[in-house]
Formats: sequence, structure tokens, C-alpha cells
Amino acid sequence: MATREDLLAAAAALGTPLYVYDIDAVRARLARLREAFGSQFGISFAIKSNPNLALLRSLAPLVDTFDVSAFAEVERAIAAGCEAERITFCGPGKRAEEVRRAVRLGIGYLVVESLHEARLADRFAGELGCRQIVLLRINPATSPRAFGVNMSGKPSQFGIDEEEMEAAIDAVAALPHLDLVGFHIYSGSNSLSVEGLAENFVILSDIFRRAVAHCGQSPRKLIFGAGFGVPYLPSDEELDLAALADQVLPGIAALRAEAAFAGARLELELGRWLVGPCGWLLSSIIGAKASRGTEIRICDAGFNNHLAAYGMMGSVIRRNWRIANLSNPSGETGRYTVVGPLCTTIDTLATKLELPVATIGDVISIENSGAYGLTSSPTRFISHPEPREALLEGGRLTDASESLLNHWRLADN
Ligand SMILES: Cc1ncc(COP(=O)(O)O)c(C=O)c1O
Repeated sequence: MATREDLLAAAAALGTPLYVYDIDAVRARLARLREAFGSQFGISFAIKSNPNLALLRSLAPLVDTFDVSAFAEVERAIAAGCEAERITFCGPGKRAEEVRRAVRLGIGYLVVESLHEARLADRFAGELGCRQIVLLRINPATSPRAFGVNMSGKPSQFGIDEEEMEAAIDAVAALPHLDLVGFHIYSGSNSLSVEGLAENFVILSDIFRRAVAHCGQSPRKLIFGAGFGVPYLPSDEELDLAALADQVLPGIAALRAEAAFAGARLELELGRWLVGPCGWLLSSIIGAKASRGTEIRICDAGFNNHLAAYGMMGSVIRRNWRIANLSNPSGETGRYTVVGPLCTTIDTLATKLELPVATIGDVISIENSGAYGLTSSPTRFISHPEPREALLEGGRLTDASESLLNHWRLADN
């Protein structure tokens, strides 16, 4: 894992705000995942969690599939060296033109989320004189209790309701230019609960059994939307992968023992668990003041740079993330309210945060920022310079910035 010295050197070389992604750490997490789940599951990386092109280039040879949610993500996946056959294309609101382009490209698996989308794909495949492989996304009627973000068990735009899946399977299977070869479920996200995730695998396996029985055809691919969480808060504990695998694998072995599932390729579809803990947002303290008894530190990254860390993405109440003072890692501490540079009171990163004494010029790190960081942030708001991005690999730092939005260009000014 990147050390304090690595991160400080990165900040000194490229300035702040700066996202740093440690590729060796991503590789190590992938190895842990494969060790825990053995050969039972392929691994799909949901590139919405971090679409940085250099990161994708490193990941393309390491994972089995890239999962995309927009045609521009298809283009990123291809540019990163992932073949079209290794791409699954999800998303509840695919534009007709996106569906047409995906079919024309020969995308590996189009994940259809509605009958309208299936009919569109069928029409385009017919016009283009080809066939399109599809997975049908099913939205479960029940969801595990312990999911951070629930996408099932309620009215939802995602996939076909489980209650209607049989009719949908019949309708898709009847379309002449589509090959329905499997099913996709993604029911929730960011769960740190072994029991909740294990329950999800049971729910998904049962739905897949019923879908396959109705279809009367052995599936080629089944995607288990897993939603493995990461410990964002200091009080959170890392997901116990070995305990999860112990609970899940017997059920998966039983599924595989059924003739209909013997040839199915099962896949875990993950974003944040793979890359979240391997990234940091580095930010410099650019202002310090005491206001009515509160010590305030103003840093150069606001919610415009990291919406999630500022509590505005997927959380009801903002809580302090794991934050460190890299420049002064130990010794006497203070309690700080840490804010960003934006002209709004909601630009608050942390309150009552205990840190070793923090002064102007110090570099702080926001941990667990490798997923849903820059990609999920409103960087145009107030036109501050967009953070750079960098990869750390084999001790080498590479500038992986794709956009220098709002970086100053006026010469000699
Ligand atoms: C369909 C689908 N797959 C995968 C993911 C990745 O989720 P996470 O990054 O929490 O693993 C998401 C996240 O919303 C999703 O909607």
C-alpha cells in the first residue's frame, strides 16, 4: 500500500488536489478476491466506479469483464484494451443510439433492463444483419437487510421486476435477433455485512434457478451483483472476505451441481471494493482560522472534488471519513472543522476531527477515495481547478490526469 512518503512525494510532484491510485494495491485486492472465491466466479469491474483511462489500462488484463453503463464507457473500455466481447453493458436508461452502437460493435453482453430496450436491440440487430447476445436484468422482490444502498425490493428503474420475470423471459426469448444467454442481478451496494451479502447470494441463486427453469435453457452467464462495501468511517470494519466465502461457496457449489448450471459462467460485478481502498484524495490546507471557539481548516478540495467524502452521495447524514495529516502524522493533536474552498456552508468535510496539529501548507489525505471520487463530483461548480489524477505502480508515479478543467492558462499573470 502507498506509504505516507509516497503520497507526500506525489503531492509535491503534481500539486493538490490530487487523486492517487495505487495499482499494486488493486492487484493485491484482486488476488485476495480470487483466493477467497477460487475459480467459482469471474470478476467484472464496474468502470463507473473509476473510469480513469490509465487505471482501466492496468485493470484490463487483470479482470475478466468490464461492466459499463454508457456508450462513452464502452469507448473507454475499448481504448483501455478490453475487447468488445468482454464488455457487459448495463444501465436503466440506454439511449436508442447507444443500443444501436453497442449492437453494431458486437458488444459481448447487452444487459437489457426493459422490454422496450430488448425490442430496440432486436430491431437494430435485424437492420444490421447480426444477432445480439443479451442478459436479462431482474430486480429482486426482496433485498437483504444489511445493504448500504438498496436497489431492489421496491419500485425501481433497474431491470424487470422479479414478479414479472417469467413473462419478460418469454417476450425476450421470442425476439428473432436476440440470444438470451443468462441473467443479471444487482440489488444493492456498499454492504460490509457478511450475513447481508451471504443472504443476497441465496436470494439471487433462487431467482436464477426459477428464471433458468422457466427459460428451459442452460445459462451461459449469470451475474451476481455483489455490492461488497469498504470501511469509509473510522468505526467501520473491513469486510471479512474469508468468512463471506465460507458462507457463500457451499450454496454456489450446490447450484453448480445442478445439471442446468454446470456450464454457466458466474461473475461478481464490483467497483468500490476493488479500487476504493486503493485511492486517496490529497488536499492542501490553504487557510486556518479560529471562529467562535472552533478551529477551522480550509483545504483546496471541496465537495466539487469529492462529493461522497463530503457526505453528499449515498449517505443521509454526513460523517467524518478516514482522514490523515500526512505532513504532521503524530504528536500533539487539535480538533478541527475541515472545509473546502466553496462559498457554501455545505462544503464541510469533517467536524470535530482529531488530527495532529494542522497548519497552512499541510497535506491531508482522504482515504478510500479510489471509487466514486472524481467521477462522481460536480467539478464545474465554482470553477476551481479540477484535481489531477496519478497512478502509483512499482514505486513509480505517473500523471494520469485526463482533464485540467479550470487550470489557469493566462500566461505571465
Ligand atoms: C449494475 C451495477 N453494477 C455494479 C455496480 C458497482 O457497485 P460497487 O461500486 O458498489 O461495487 C453498480 C453500482 O451502482 C451497479 O449499479
